Amino acid sequence: MTRGGVDALKRRAAEAAFGRVRSGMVLGLGTGSTVAHLLDLLGEALREGSLKDIVAVPTSVRTETRARELGIELIALHERASLDLTIDGADEISPRLELIKGGGGALLREKMVAQASDRLVIIADGAKAVDRLGTTFALPVEVVRWEWEAHVGFLEGLGAQVTPRRGSDGALVESDNGQHLLDCRFPEGIADPSAIEARLAARAGIVESGLFLGLAHEAFIASDQGVEHREGSA
Ligand code: A5P
Repeated sequence: MTRGGVDALKRRAAEAAFGRVRSGMVLGLGTGSTVAHLLDLLGEALREGSLKDIVAVPTSVRTETRARELGIELIALHERASLDLTIDGADEISPRLELIKGGGGALLREKMVAQASDRLVIIADGAKAVDRLGTTFALPVEVVRWEWEAHVGFLEGLGAQVTPRRGSDGALVESDNGQHLLDCRFPEGIADPSAIEARLAARAGIVESGLFLGLAHEAFIASDQGVEHREGSA
C-alpha cells in the first residue's frame, strides 16, 4: 500500500475514535503519525466550537508542540487525579488488545498517561494487527543512561536480539526523559508477554518497556475493508 493510502487509513481510525470525545473531558493525547490526525480533528472542533472545555495531557514533547500550535489547552499529568480518555497509536495490536508501543520513543509517558486514564482507545491502520506480539516489530525498552550496555546480555538471555536505537547521525537516541532505548527483536515473537514484562519490571536500570498489557479498552483498526472495532478486557 502507498504511504498516502496508509495515511488515509490512519485518518479513518482517528475519525472513528474522535467520536468518543465529548466537551468537558480531560484527555490524554498519544504520540505518532496516527495521533497527529486526531490532534488535527480536535484542534478543528475546538476552533469551530463543536467541542469546548477540553484540557489535555500530552505524552511527548512532539505532541505537546503540535497541540499548542492547534490551540489545545494542556495541563500536567499531576493536575488531575484521573483522565477521562486517552487516545493513542500502537506499533502492534494482539487479538486481546495487548500492545507494543514506543516506536516513536514515547513509551514511558504514554504508559504513565494510559495508567492514569479511565479509558484507553487505540487507533491504528490494519498493518498493526498481529496474532502474536513481537512478530513484526521490535519491543522498545527504555533504560537509564548509566551502564545501559549492562542490560544487553540480560535482554539477550530473555531471547531478544538487541539493537540500541540511534539517530541518523549515529548517536544513541535520547528519549524525552533523557534516557536510551534498546529495540528488542524476538525472532519467534513474544510467547508470554506477561512473563517478559515481569522480568523487565524487576530489573533495576530498566525504566519501562513498550509492552502495554491489560491497558487498552478498545481499538479502531482501519483497513481497506473498513474500520474494525475491537473491545479489550481492560
Ligand atoms: C510512540 O512512542 C508510539 O508508541 C506510537 O504510538 C506508535 O509508534 C504508533 O505510531 P504511528 O501512529 O506513527 O504508527
